[in-house]
Amino acid sequence: MFKELSRTLGTICALVLAMIVVIFSTAFIISGEESTYYKQESPEQIIDTVPKIALTEQQKKGKSLFKTNCAACHKLFKKAVGPVLYGVTDRYEKEWLYKWINNSAALIKSGDTQAVALYNEYNQANMNSFPNLTKEDIDAILDYIESSKN
Ligand code: HEC
Repeated sequence: MFKELSRTLGTICALVLAMIVVIFSTAFIISGEESTYYKQESPEQIIDTVPKIALTEQQKKGKSLFKTNCAACHKLFKKAVGPVLYGVTDRYEKEWLYKWINNSAALIKSGDTQAVALYNEYNQANMNSFPNLTKEDIDAILDYIESSKN
């Protein structure tokens, strides 16, 4: 009788111990998983890990042409002497942009309505002519301008 009692007690103890072990180890495993899945990174770290979009060769060429020829009067996202240039390819046809950039004065003189309206809007300020810029150069500048918001 006494023997039997101590055996049942022994079994109960063993079961309780086993349960404790199971509970603790699951808790341990779960918390381990959480720390790998929900590891928080500070915002700086996240920004750092976003890859910077590299400029293509054409955009690099456009950037340097923009800096030397246009930056004195134009900013990409802010009005300066001249208008904001970001989004300019949505506002005008490519052919118009070639003509305007090569020689805006000639385009205004020809009576082109967009050119005349723009010229008047900017109090008849004169933009330089850039007869030396080829279509490829202008394409590069426009490509750089449009890529800049990525
Ligand atoms: C001396 C200042 C000056 C320089 C340098 C200059 N611009 Fe301009 N640009 C202007 C002004 C001012 C206007 C507004 C129209 C006007 O008054 O002739 C203008 C207008 C424009 C427009 C029309 C924009 C719109 O939204 O209507 C484009 C495109 C443009 N410029 C491109 C260029 C590019 C490309 C270069 C460099 C190759 C350049 N500009 C260099 C002054 C300048």
